[in-house]
Amino acid sequence: MNSHPGDIVESKIKDLAYDGKAVGEIDGKIIFLNAGLPGELVRAKITKSKRNYNVGKVIEIIEKSDERIEAQCSHFDICGGCTWQDLDYERQLYYKRKQIDDCLKHIAKFETVDLAEIIPAPNQFRYRNKMEFSFNTNPEDGFALGLHRRGRFDEIFNLDECYLTSEIDPEIVKWFRTFVKESGMSAYNVTEHTGFLRFLMIRHTQNTNQIMLNIVTVDGEIINLEKLIDDVKSKFPEVVTIVQNINNQKSNISKGEKEFIHYGDGFIEERILDCRFRIYANSFFQTNSLQTENLYKTAFELLQPNQNDRLLDLYCGAGTIGLTAAKMVDEVIGVELEPTAIEAARENAKLNDITNATFYTGLAQELLRNNPEILNGVNSIITDPPRAGMHKKALKALVEHDHKRLVYISCNPSTFARDAQILVDSGYSLGKVIPVDMFPHTMHIELVSIFER
Ligand SMILES: C[S@@+](CC[C@H](N)C(=O)[O-])C[C@H]1O[C@@H](n2cnc3c(N)ncnc32)[C@H](O)[C@@H]1O
Repeated sequence: MNSHPGDIVESKIKDLAYDGKAVGEIDGKIIFLNAGLPGELVRAKITKSKRNYNVGKVIEIIEKSDERIEAQCSHFDICGGCTWQDLDYERQLYYKRKQIDDCLKHIAKFETVDLAEIIPAPNQFRYRNKMEFSFNTNPEDGFALGLHRRGRFDEIFNLDECYLTSEIDPEIVKWFRTFVKESGMSAYNVTEHTGFLRFLMIRHTQNTNQIMLNIVTVDGEIINLEKLIDDVKSKFPEVVTIVQNINNQKSNISKGEKEFIHYGDGFIEERILDCRFRIYANSFFQTNSLQTENLYKTAFELLQPNQNDRLLDLYCGAGTIGLTAAKMVDEVIGVELEPTAIEAARENAKLNDITNATFYTGLAQELLRNNPEILNGVNSIITDPPRAGMHKKALKALVEHDHKRLVYISCNPSTFARDAQILVDSGYSLGKVIPVDMFPHTMHIELVSIFER
């Protein structure tokens, strides 16, 4: 029997796929589901039907796995933030490590892999230093401020608690919701594109305890701004800066075209290993500061940098890896697409009195081919590409160069496996692969690995 989109089906979960999706089977055809653990029987709605597989959304878990535990958060059933909060942490780690093992065996076709035990997160809860809370209008209260309902871009629920952020964040959200009600400001409607307030982004550094509030709106002035600042100062003294980003575009993102600084300097400062980093409203910064320190330390242990090295930090973001390594090597070269991240990298180099780091802005695949001075003399490389993995041309440029050691940090085991196969086919040997859990209660997993020639 053929199944079609809209059909309601029952399926036993056989396994978890590379990206953490549950894999079941209906009438001999694979179905990928958004939830479910191996052994569970689920009822699901088919959302897509292809020749070789179906995709579906779980409506009900009919037979639950013994691995399920009580989730701590009262919003767990509806919130899109955590998908695995009701899975025992040890089992989360098991499935995350298995994702990497599966990818390296099935995608890269490696028979044996030196896959280390996973490095668990230092904090299972309250590990995020950044959270974006969204506004949307709603018929009951006029508006909601909180997080997205699971799988819904247009439905926001009023958040009262969150175990991924610091304890203060939900308190700020509740205070701001009342402030907005009293001031009469309107919330943005994401389908009709009307209204004023779009997001409240809270960044809260873990090592230095500084908070930034970024209020994202369309063009216009925040009502009772003076009172807002006074309230924040008296209620939340950890807040050191308040900014307003203006996004008039339909795209529902918090990055604005313009920014106004209403209080403080417009940035907060975090410490990673021995370095200080300024974080602006729109700069990329690793969201789990404590585990980032472990991630970088692991990368340096594999790389074994020394004072004669010329180190290439490829896809360097705001330069955090290269700058924390700068004292261990002779010279650091950073390459990154985002001009604002490179500006931040240069500023952070100055802030830390680092004079042996040079940064290039542009596409890695173009810079490595067109600017031979970047790779000239480089003997060690750390590459940390986005989820899509490395561009083929960037990989080719590395393969043709004669460095000895390459540390690859990846947040996506399947694109890592694809790139690892190319590197191994080109003469590198893959050493240790070390999984690092940066995001407990989600399916995401990071890894650090070493390639040598
Ligand atoms: C995973 S982040 C790396 C962050 C950084 N290494 C850190 O630890 O904070 C990937 C970075 O690659 C950049 N990027 C994406 N595509 C790129 C490309 N084709 N060339 C250069 N940089 C790119 C993104 O802007 C992002 O900053």
